[in-house]
Amino acid sequence: MHKIIIDTDPGVDDTMAIAYALAHPDIELLGLTTVFGNINIDYSTRNGQYVLDVLGAETVAVARGASIPSVQSPLPHADFVHGADGLGNVYPGSEPGKAAATAATLRADARHATIEPVDAADFIIQCARQFPGEVTLVAIGPLTNVAEAYRREPALPSLVAGLVIMGGTVDEPGNVSPVSEANFLNDPHAADALLAADWPTTIVGLDVTHRIMLTDSHLKQLDEQAGETGSLIWNSSRFYVDFYTQSGAAKDAEEPQCAMHDAAAVAYVLIPDAFTVVRGGARVIPDGMAIGQLALDRKGYAYAVPHWQDRPATSVCMAVESDRVREHFLQTII
Ligand code: BDR
Ligand code: CA
Repeated sequence: MHKIIIDTDPGVDDTMAIAYALAHPDIELLGLTTVFGNINIDYSTRNGQYVLDVLGAETVAVARGASIPSVQSPLPHADFVHGADGLGNVYPGSEPGKAAATAATLRADARHATIEPVDAADFIIQCARQFPGEVTLVAIGPLTNVAEAYRREPALPSLVAGLVIMGGTVDEPGNVSPVSEANFLNDPHAADALLAADWPTTIVGLDVTHRIMLTDSHLKQLDEQAGETGSLIWNSSRFYVDFYTQSGAAKDAEEPQCAMHDAAAVAYVLIPDAFTVVRGGARVIPDGMAIGQLALDRKGYAYAVPHWQDRPATSVCMAVESDRVREHFLQTII
């Protein structure tokens, strides 16, 4: 059984990841920790509660986290990818192009009405201490909360089973700059601080997430066969698929489709042998022209004497059995 915490900015593909984790019998979801990113922290936290409500998991804990990056100024939220409400404009009361009313108003009648009394970083530390060596952190938003947890508890790397990060890219072009992926660009200092620490870290970045596409046929299958969970994924993905079709990686595809990004990090927890990893010291560029870029010391590792001897080896996913992961995701949810 994998005890996991999902650190998230829900988020259309975050919703897919949460649904996947909840549906799999080998995962125990200890909680969601929320972070700014795709939307602001109020919406991120509210969406986390709402998604758990719809998925029938209102007893899963939600801890609110960071509203801004650890060092740099915040970037604009990705409403053009995830909708003004972060959920493809399907949050109750949302209108296309316009965010819904205030978080407080909309959560008043919710089943998942409570937020943890501790913040995201303390929630992570609390769980890691309660279940030493058992908790896997699955980070699918900017890395601010996890870095803050590590800052407060320097023993965190030895208290957890592992850290799986959806973020970064090595060979694949970036999705917010030629070299940068959104989660790393949103808080490069936090991401870099985590890669400096010695813990079992795996990066599930665009090198693999852009290989695992969900077409409208796949998403429709969920809508028709996976109850409320499937409908939430179908409905919330309409705006996201449009973004991919009009401007993103799927512009020339035969059928409308989107990347499953964050759900691939959950897949790594469940079927790691579907991924091929390269190991090496890694850094995230904190500023300048290449801000947010993941730099991986591949050659150094192959030479046995790493170029970056001050960096522990990080596992970076560079190839994936796409069909296998996609089917595992779909069948788990159905
Ligand atoms: C990542 O950025 C966000 O927009 C997605 O939710 C995902 O976590 C992909 O680059
Ligand atoms: Ca995300």
